[in-house]
Amino acid sequence: MTARLKILAINGSERDGNTADVLRHAAEAAEQRGVDFETVDLRNTWMERCGPCGDCNDRPVACELADGVPGVVRKMVDADGIIFAAPVHGFGTSSLMQTFIERAGVGYLRFDRPLSNKVAGVISVARRYSAGEVWAQLTVNALLNRMIVVGSGFPATVHALHRGDALKDDEGLKNVTRLVHRMADMMQLLDDHRRLTGEDNLLPSGEVNERVGLALNETGASA
Ligand SMILES: Cc1cc2nc3c(=O)[nH]c(=O)nc-3n(C[C@H](O)[C@H](O)[C@H](O)COP(=O)(O)O)c2cc1C
Repeated sequence: MTARLKILAINGSERDGNTADVLRHAAEAAEQRGVDFETVDLRNTWMERCGPCGDCNDRPVACELADGVPGVVRKMVDADGIIFAAPVHGFGTSSLMQTFIERAGVGYLRFDRPLSNKVAGVISVARRYSAGEVWAQLTVNALLNRMIVVGSGFPATVHALHRGDALKDDEGLKNVTRLVHRMADMMQLLDDHRRLTGEDNLLPSGEVNERVGLALNETGASA
């Protein structure tokens, strides 16, 4: 029996609100496809903010700060697909998601890019303003990590203000459903290929550790 494919969703909301409702909707779509779905709520995750050291610019190994972030990174590495879902706060991504992107991205992912070739999906939730900007910000972070972002039609931006409003945004939810189905299609395709060829490394992912051999300028900072 082959293992079921899995999507891990990262929820950047401070509350069990609209983003959580949207992810429950996404989980139902995943279930229809026989795909496992787990959500990590960043509000329940112990996350320190990046400190002042900045030395991850100049070393090739992961951050030493001990908090819950490396555990979430391990879960992402174990998943086949990852959804980044965040509400818009102050025309930008919520501070929880911003902190996670900084800590996970700069602290752990920038060295070996362990999320390479995983399938990515992005969802933003907003009353209205800057939903597209936040969606684009999270998408370039997925691309930075060499993930495969599937085209799924219109961006999965959901419009909602008060708790419960997301479930009234039919078009937004339709885009979320389509996103999950497209992710499931691509995850299945990659898995079929992996099993047929016995090759785990599906596509050449370039250099292994981006931080090895960095050219340093005269001040010692990376170029
Ligand atoms: C601090 C804060 C700032 C917000 N800023 C924006 C904003 O810039 N643009 C917008 O459209 N909605 C904004 N909102 C509304 C939220 O994006 C919206 O209520 C969303 O549904 C919240 O999702 P949640 O229930 O998952 O937290 C803001 C909400 C809060 C609490």
